[in-house]
Amino acid sequence: MGKVILTGDRPTGKLHLGHYVGSLRQRVELQNSGLFEKIFIMIADAQALTDNADNPEKVRQNIIEVALDYLSCGIDPTKSNIFIQSMIPELTELAFYYMNLVTVARLERNPTVKTEIVMREFGKSIPVGFYTYPISQASDITAFRATTVPAGDDQEPMIEQTREIVHKFNSIYGETLVEPEILLPSNAACKRLPGTDGKAKMSKSLGNCIYLSDSSEDLRKKVMSMYTDPNHIRVEDPGCIEGNCVFTYLDAFSCCDHFAEFLPDYASLDELKAHYQRGGLGDVKVKKFLYAVLEEMLAPIRQRRKEYEQDIEGVYEILKKGCQVAREEAAETLEMVRRAMKINYFEDAELIRQQSEMYRTK
Ligand code: TRP
Repeated sequence: MGKVILTGDRPTGKLHLGHYVGSLRQRVELQNSGLFEKIFIMIADAQALTDNADNPEKVRQNIIEVALDYLSCGIDPTKSNIFIQSMIPELTELAFYYMNLVTVARLERNPTVKTEIVMREFGKSIPVGFYTYPISQASDITAFRATTVPAGDDQEPMIEQTREIVHKFNSIYGETLVEPEILLPSNAACKRLPGTDGKAKMSKSLGNCIYLSDSSEDLRKKVMSMYTDPNHIRVEDPGCIEGNCVFTYLDAFSCCDHFAEFLPDYASLDELKAHYQRGGLGDVKVKKFLYAVLEEMLAPIRQRRKEYEQDIEGVYEILKKGCQVAREEAAETLEMVRRAMKINYFEDAELIRQQSEMYRTK
C-alpha cells in the first residue's frame, strides 16, 4: 500500500520561519521525493475555531494567507491537495464516533493541550471543542488513511493519541484504520525554532516572529534586533552560543556554501562559533551573515507569493479542487468505518434479511 501524508496548520495568522523549518520545508521535499502516493495538506479552520469561536472573521481572513504561504513555499497543487477542514463534513462525523473511544482522563493528560490551556488563560472555562481537539485531529489524520504526519514535536502527543484511537477502533470493530507515524524534522534546531527574542517558541501572540511574507527591510530590522548573549557587550568579550538565538537560527538555516558566498573568512559554522566563544567577534557581523542567509532563502518565496497574490480567484480554485479530492477520500474511509461499526443499516442486506426472518417466524 502506498504511503500517504496528511498534515496541516491552523489559519490564525501568516506562517513564519518556525513553520517553515518545523514543517513546510520538509513538506516540499517530501512532495518532490516521489515517495508518497497521496499528499493532503489541510487548513485547519475548524480546529482554529475551537479557541476562536468569537472571532470567525480572523479565521476566514487567514485561510487565504496560509494558502498563499503554502504555494509560495513550493507546495505544488498538482502534487499535493490543499484543502479546508470544515469543507469535509466526514471529519466531524468520524470525530463523533471516536469520542466514545477516549476517556476524559486521557484528554486531561495530553501535554500539548495542557500547555495551550495555560497559555490561553482558559482557567476553568475551557471550551469542550478545544478540549477535544486531539480527537478531531485523530479524525483528520485517519480519514485520509495517512501513514505519515510531518509535523513539529509539539504535535507528538496528538499523533500518540491518534495511534491509541486507531488501536482501540481496530480491536473493537476489526482492522479498518491505518496507524500513522509522525515525521519530525531531522535537524534538532528545526524542531522548535525560538522567537527572535530568545523565547522558547516563535509565536504570533509573543510578537517574536519572522514571517515568510515579511519584506526584505522588515527581515533586516528583525534580525538586527535579535536576542543574543546579554553578557557579550564588547566585541572582545567571549560570547555564549547556548540560548543565543542568532546561532540557533544559523544551525537551522546555514550551510557551508553560505560561508563561501557571504562570509569567506570562515569555512563553517563551527569556526564561526569558536571565534564567538573565544571573543573578538561582534554580534553585528554574525547578524549580517544571518540576514544574508535568510534573505537568500526568503526572496524567492516572497517573489512567488507576489505572483499568487495577483490571482486570488485562482488560489480559491486550487482550494476548491483540493476539497473535492479530499472529500472523496474521506467519504471512502467513512464508508469503511460505518461498515465496520455496523451502522450502515441500509447497505446491510443481512441485517434486514435476519430481522425479516425473525419476525416472519415469530
Ligand atoms: N494542530 C495543528 C496545529 O496547531 C494543526 C492540525 C490540525 C494538524 N489537524 C492536523 C496537523 C492533523 C497535523 C495533522 O498547527
